[in-house]
Amino acid sequence: MKLAILCSGRGSDLQSIIDSIQRGELQAEIEVVITDKPNVQALDRAAKAGIKNICVDRKNFSSREDFEKEILKNLSEIDLVILAGFMRILSPEFVKKFSGRLMNIHPSLLPSFPGAHAHRDVLAYGVKVSGCTVHFVDEGTDSGPIILQSAVEVLDDDTEETLSARVLEQEHKIYPQAIKLFVEGKLKIEGRKVKILN
Ligand code: GRF
Repeated sequence: MKLAILCSGRGSDLQSIIDSIQRGELQAEIEVVITDKPNVQALDRAAKAGIKNICVDRKNFSSREDFEKEILKNLSEIDLVILAGFMRILSPEFVKKFSGRLMNIHPSLLPSFPGAHAHRDVLAYGVKVSGCTVHFVDEGTDSGPIILQSAVEVLDDDTEETLSARVLEQEHKIYPQAIKLFVEGKLKIEGRKVKILN
């Protein structure tokens, strides 16, 4: 099974997937890591693991269509596209093309707190439990069918940094697990629901 991973920055979720493959837990190959920004840590992590890595710098494209066209050139052989901290909204055309084989991870318990500032919003609202969600991507923002979730307690003295660090620990567990389920053919999408087969 051939994976492509799209990132924008630090790439710790990417690293958890690389590690899971290297430990032999996840039987898949990362064909390419693509970032929308130059000089980000995700590119170094891919290079260090011997994975082809490409920056498609959004700044070099006047439209999202042209930017995505360039990304798509690298995805013709790919079975599953994984968004791992990729901070761009993909077009409906792109999402349709990879329907059922495009995944994202979001740092909250969706459908609560979608969007780019989940931890900030969680703390401002005062909820006692947060977490992370792996989901298939649909044409909305953080709204696709949910594959796996993991909950994390929100502490009274949490900051965005401390909460995000504890949520990330869970992200690094459930993202490789969700990908493994996909690779093993165990995910069945039925409308809004994702059934996990035995
Ligand atoms: C993670 O919190 C992920 O849930 C969100 O962006 C962050 C990416 O972190 N989509 P990293 O770049 O993988 O370290």
